[in-house]
Amino acid sequence: MKAARAAAPGKVILFGEHAVVYGRPALAVPVAQVTARATVAPGGQGFWIEAVNLSKRYALEAAPASDPLAKAVELALNRAGLSEPPAGEVRVESSIPMASGLGSGAAVCTAVVRALAEALGLELSAAEVSALVFETETLLHGTPSGIDNTVVAYGQPVYFVREQPPVPFRVGRPFHLLIADTGRPSPTRVAVGDVRAAYERGPARLTAIFDQIGAVVDEARGRIEAGQPEALGPLMNRNQALLRELGVSSPELDELAARAGAGGALGAKLSGAGRGGNLLALVTPETAEAVREALVAGGAAGVIGTWVGETLKRDA
Ligand code: MEV
Repeated sequence: MKAARAAAPGKVILFGEHAVVYGRPALAVPVAQVTARATVAPGGQGFWIEAVNLSKRYALEAAPASDPLAKAVELALNRAGLSEPPAGEVRVESSIPMASGLGSGAAVCTAVVRALAEALGLELSAAEVSALVFETETLLHGTPSGIDNTVVAYGQPVYFVREQPPVPFRVGRPFHLLIADTGRPSPTRVAVGDVRAAYERGPARLTAIFDQIGAVVDEARGRIEAGQPEALGPLMNRNQALLRELGVSSPELDELAARAGAGGALGAKLSGAGRGGNLLALVTPETAEAVREALVAGGAAGVIGTWVGETLKRDA
C-alpha cells in the first residue's frame, strides 16, 4: 500500500427528496464549497481510522459493525482482494456539516473508498465507488434511495431514479443558490422513518404527494435544461409546500423560507431529509446580499453560496 489522498464534495438535493425513496425522480448537484478529505498512510501496526471531526482514532478491528467509515475501509479492501488489512491508517476530515442534508456521510465514505483505491492501485469507476458507498449509507439511513452516494461519487448534476443508472443533466444557464444552515442537525434516518410511518397510515394521501413532487421534479429539469432558472422559484416553493405536508419541515425551516422570500429570493425549500439541516434559496446577483442578510437575521447559523452549473468558476 502506498500513501494516497482523495476528496469528495458535498451535495444538495434541488428537488424531490423523500419522494425519491418511493421511486419518484429527484435532482441533485454536488457542492464543491464543502468537502470531505481522506489521507491514507502506510506503516505502523494494524489498520487505524482517524475521524478528525469526531475526535476519534480507533483500530479497524475494534470498530462496531455499524461504523460507516470502517465499512467503507472493509469494502475497499475486499474489492482489492485483500483478506487481511495492510498496516496503515486512514485520516478523514470534512468541512461538511453533519446531519444537515449536505451529504456528509456519503462524502466521507466516498473520500475513504477513493483514497484506499488509489493507495492499493485499484481503478474504480464512479459507478463502482457509488455502489460501495451505497452499502455504507444503509448503515446510516436504513433505506436510502442511493441519491447521496450517486451525486457525490459522480460529482455532477444528476437526475436520479432509484435503482436506475443516474442521468446527468445539462444546466442551460448557471444559477445562484444560498444554502442556509438552521443549525439544527437532523439525522436522515429519523425523518425517513417518520415518512415511512405516515405512508403506512395513509398510503393514498402520501402517494398523491409523492406524485406531485415527481411532477415538480420533471418540470424543474426541463426549466434547468432550457436555461430558465428563474422559473425554478415557484417550483421550489411548491416542493417546499409538499414537503411540509409530508411533515418534514420545521419551524426553523419555515421561518428561514419566509425570511428568504421577504428578502427577495425567487423561491426556497429545505434540502435533504428536513426537520433541520439546510434551506436552499434561489437568488440573483441583485438579491443575493439582501437574502443572505435576511437569512442570518432569521437565525441561520451559516450561509454558503453556490453557483449550480458553474461551481468551479464562480464559487461565491
Ligand atoms: C437524503 O439526502 C434524501 C432523502 O430523500 C433520503 C434518501 O433519498 O435516501 C430524504
